[in-house]
Amino acid sequence: MKLTLENNIYENIHADFGIRFLTKESLEDDLHVTLLKSAGFKASQDETCLLLESKTIVCGVKELKSDSLRSATATAIQVLMKHTHKRVKISACGINNIKAITEGLILGSYTFEKYKSEPKECEITDILIAAEDKDGNLAEYENMKNFFEAAKIIATATNFTRELVNTTPEDIYPQAMAEIALDLAERNSLTCNVLDEKQLQEQGMNAMLAVGRASRHQPRLIHLSYKPENPLHVISLVGKGLTYDSGGLSLKPAASMVTMKMDKAGACAVLGMMKAVSELGLPIEVHGFLGAAENMVDSNSYKPDDVLKSKNGKTIEVRNTDAEGRLVLADVLSYAQQEVEADYLFDYATLTGACMVALGQYTIGIMGHSHKLKHDISRAASKSGELTGGLPFNEHLKKLLKSDIADISNISSKPYGGAITAGLFLDNFIDEDMKEKWLHFDIAGPAYTETPWDCNVYGGTGAGVRMSVKFLENLCK
Ligand code: BES
Ligand code: ZN
Ligand code: ZN
Repeated sequence: MKLTLENNIYENIHADFGIRFLTKESLEDDLHVTLLKSAGFKASQDETCLLLESKTIVCGVKELKSDSLRSATATAIQVLMKHTHKRVKISACGINNIKAITEGLILGSYTFEKYKSEPKECEITDILIAAEDKDGNLAEYENMKNFFEAAKIIATATNFTRELVNTTPEDIYPQAMAEIALDLAERNSLTCNVLDEKQLQEQGMNAMLAVGRASRHQPRLIHLSYKPENPLHVISLVGKGLTYDSGGLSLKPAASMVTMKMDKAGACAVLGMMKAVSELGLPIEVHGFLGAAENMVDSNSYKPDDVLKSKNGKTIEVRNTDAEGRLVLADVLSYAQQEVEADYLFDYATLTGACMVALGQYTIGIMGHSHKLKHDISRAASKSGELTGGLPFNEHLKKLLKSDIADISNISSKPYGGAITAGLFLDNFIDEDMKEKWLHFDIAGPAYTETPWDCNVYGGTGAGVRMSVKFLENLCK
């Protein structure tokens, strides 16, 4: 399926089928209003109706703005993928919407076919986007083309993340993730350094090593860097890469274990960001640190009651082996700060079920000390079409992580505020001079979905990629 931006208006493009948007207001003035209304079409958001005579699918939108258009485009393309039309046309709906339309097409048409013996073949060969404004007049092509190309890179990188998240633990284990990173580095001229279990021992990363110890696949720390000349900023991105989370000895119940291949979504999002940033050629030095491990059960498992000495010297009492992500991140965050003096340090993790309880399934939880940074990333997220919610750090919750026998416990002593106490746990591994530069993103809710929503289809969503790339783009303005 090839996307092209045509220097032409919608009406003049030859195609087998077209996608058109209608709001409740514009429905009233539409040429086909009687027919559409008789078919029960009300132009509600994401409602579609096929007009076979005029070879058009109409899709309802709340308003002709990015969020509505991205979702509607994704819905419309999913309907057309079930048909046999080859060339499909669509309007860019103006310079402010071309990114959303492009994303809707690329993200909405993603399907995961890797394990099907007969992969679905999409019959659409070309999608022609008319470089026109909302009123159907020709827009400034070159300007629009820049937005179009950037959106293609970002949406394709998001699908790259989705594909990795969807891949099974049999195929993506820590060393396999390292090989994927090395391959990306080669393709995109990045550098990549992989630490194996021996090197992790030399680095004193005992928390991460303990988590991965019971697996036949030992942990890896993967460090990717993108270093353009004269960078405006330096940023470190850290990702939780649990290639499988069984819970360990604090074993998950059967139903909660299904989908835990997605516990590597933070690391996969960082891989997607590295891909996007390098392809966009942003003038920012970006480091990606992935903590890859598999949380399993055998006679060598780490245990509730263990005390682990982490890389930064703090001792951690293990009271639940299913709170493993924070143990991996503790060491990887310490390593990232040791290796790179960054202006910003962000971590991404499917860290807590509690974050979903707090914010719902669709929203990324943001934690950190800097109000300005939280504000800037939330704005970037909402511009990019991702949802975020702030979870405030709280002095009183800190004491719930106290341990009687070690410096800190890996779980809270109370059942409330679990996403925040996990964030506060990580705060223990952030150096004093980095406190205001650090943000923690809990993506447990939106990273994976079993029911499609917005431009997301079944499986990995690539949560965090669009938001973060937008933040980095804003840093270059
Ligand atoms: N990977 C899970 C969190 C998770 C749960 C992600 C559901 C996505 C969907 C994490 O390692 C975990 O198990 N967290 C525990 C922490 C608890 C033991 C303090 C949780 O959320 O129950
Ligand atoms: Zn867990
Ligand atoms: Zn986990």
